[in-house]
Order: sequence, then C-alpha cells, then structure tokens
Amino acid sequence: MSHALLAPELLADYSLQTHNTFGFDMRARHAMKIDSVDAAASLHTDRRVMNMAQLVLGGGSNIVLTRDFDGVALIVGIVGKRVIGEEDGAWLVEAGAGENWHDFVAWTLAQGMPGLENLPLIPGTVGAAPIQNIGAYGLEMGERFERLNAVELATGACVEFDRTACAFGYRDSFFKRAGRGRFMITSVVFRLPKAWRPRTEYADVARALEGASRCDAQAIFDAVVAVRRAKLPDWTVLGNAGSFFKNPVVSAQAFETLKAREAGVVSYPQADGQVKLAAGWLIDRCGWKGRNIGGAAVHERQALVLVNRGGATGTQVLELAESIKRDVLVRFDVELEMEPVCL
Ligand code: EPU
Repeated sequence: MSHALLAPELLADYSLQTHNTFGFDMRARHAMKIDSVDAAASLHTDRRVMNMAQLVLGGGSNIVLTRDFDGVALIVGIVGKRVIGEEDGAWLVEAGAGENWHDFVAWTLAQGMPGLENLPLIPGTVGAAPIQNIGAYGLEMGERFERLNAVELATGACVEFDRTACAFGYRDSFFKRAGRGRFMITSVVFRLPKAWRPRTEYADVARALEGASRCDAQAIFDAVVAVRRAKLPDWTVLGNAGSFFKNPVVSAQAFETLKAREAGVVSYPQADGQVKLAAGWLIDRCGWKGRNIGGAAVHERQALVLVNRGGATGTQVLELAESIKRDVLVRFDVELEMEPVCL
C-alpha cells in the first residue's frame, strides 16, 4: 500500500470543543487524527502539514484554550492495551497513548494486576499521564512507570524514554520543560509489582474505606471513585481541568512565619525540609470559593478547581486565575503556579 493511501485525512476548520475538558469552543485551522505510530512518524515528511504549527492533543484535560489555533491539531488516537510479560516480580503492561486513562486503570484491575487503583477517574489519556506525572490519593503515576515510546515530530524518530529521561517531578516532567511540544507520546509501559501493598494513608480514602468488608485493590478503586465524585466536578457536566494550581512548596522559614499569622494553615512537610501548602485552602481562605467572572467560576466544593459554568472563555478563566493569584500573594505572600498549559 502506498504511503499516500495511509496518510490520515486533513480536516479543515475543526472545532476543539469536544477535545478540551473546559469545553471552550475554539477552532483549529486544521486537524488530523493520528492512530498509529507510522502515521506519527510520517508527519515530518507530509507536505500538507510539515511547515505548520502543530499541537498534540490527548484528552485536552490540562489545557486552557484562549484562541483559535492557526496550525494543525494532532489528535492522538493510538489505541491498544496488552500485558507484555513479567519481569523481576512485576507485570509489565502497555497502553496506546490514545487510550482513556480511567478505562485503562479499570482494565488493569480486571486483569488481576493491581497498582494503579488510587488513580481512577483522572480525566485524559494514557499518553498525557506522564507529561504532568498525574497523581492523587497517595500515588503518583511515576511510581508505576517503566518506559514510554514517543515520536520526535521534527524528525520522525522513534525514541524510548525511561524513568530517568522523563525527569518526573510533582506534576512535572521533561515533556513540560525541554521536551515541550517536541514529541508525540505513542505508548506507555507500566510496571505493576506483584507484591501489592495498599496505599490508604490519604485521610479521605481511609475514611471512605471504613466499614468496607475488604481492603483489596478494587475496594480502594471504589473508595477513590466515591471521594472524587463527592468533591470534584465531572467535566462532561461542568467543564474543568482538575486542579488549576499546583500546591506551592515554601521554605521551612516562610512556613513558620505564615503559621504564626494564620491559624489552621494546611501543610505537608516534605523530605527536603520544605513545606507544601494546600493551594485549595489558601484560595478558600481568600473567599474565592463559588465566586465567578462571567461563566468562569471557582468550584463550590473545591477551591482549587476552576470551572466553566457555561459560555466562559479561556481568557475569562485566566482573568479569574490572575485575580486569585493576586489575592493569595497579598494575603499569604505565596505565589501560585498554574497546572494546565495555555494556548
Ligand atoms: N481545602 C480547603 N478548601 C478547599 C479545598 C481544599 O480548605 O476549597 C483543604 C482541604 O480541606 C484539605 C486540603 O485543603 O485539608 C487539601 O485538599 P484536598 O485533600 O482536596 O487535595 P488538594 O491538595 O486540593 C491534591 C491534588 C489533586 C488530587 C488530590 C487528592 C494538586 C494540585 N492537587 O489536591 O490532583 O486529586 O490532592 O490526592 O496536587 C489535579 O492535579 O488535577 C488533581 C485533581
């Protein structure tokens, strides 16, 4: 079969509304669905798009679209889930970058391979998970990560990244820094140790598990699902991008100053002596919960989540975010950093 026959269709004037979890109605001049590694590796020689700006989109769960995109949106649709094998007392499982993250987590449990049960219901795709090293309820994806495959967009080269190369940090990786915009992740391999230990230290999860007759991986999965449903809005009903700000990390000294001034400040000591603060608490204390700018609002049950109540624009969400940042800086002398990327 000739290369031309395999090339994906180039769509024009494409609405991104269903490709970003805020539901902003922005358009891309062009779009292309990439559903194989070959299609990804051929982009650099495809005359239709090789000189265009390119935007790789997974589930669009970590992006604020503030304008139309004058280029080609590459919508990653590479699917497939498989158990690769066993190695050093662990199962290795691989999923295509376009797989839905939550469905993948549920699938690993159905295979009898626990390890990701603390991370259900996180919106987005498997390929997006390593970019910001998704984490919740006592577990970060990086702890279960083995390697990933990616295509370098400019050259079509297939590159393997191990954990070191990914440089995972708190909601951070190589792909948010030096690697930003340069690669399309095509698949991810996870290492799930057979010697399973439950992670139930997180207070909300422990509470949800009280009274449960068992504490296996499925029970933790169910508990986290219940906690998330109670606290976090469902983006298919109320557009959002999860936590809008990172939890800020401050020096021990800055924390002592803050603690002396503010009773009840929520904090998590870090291994290096610094202290992580709960951004949601800081924002809540500034009185922002439930407030809005146009259709852009702070969620009523979790001040860390900004939502689109309907008809909001990305610019309004950013305006709201700036106002919040200003108030938190003035009151607590703490600088908040956004989690999603902006376009
Ligand atoms: N809090 C308030 N008011 C609020 C929100 C929070 O007082 O409006 C307080 C809570 O009572 C709690 C503390 O702040 O004492 C922390 O809140 P929570 O336990 O809900 O967790 P979080 O720090 O807000 C983080 C992650 C979430 C993750 C949860 C659970 C970040 C930026 N956020 O939220 O991740 O699901 O822990 O592990 O690290 C995401 O990154 O998109 C995300 C949702």
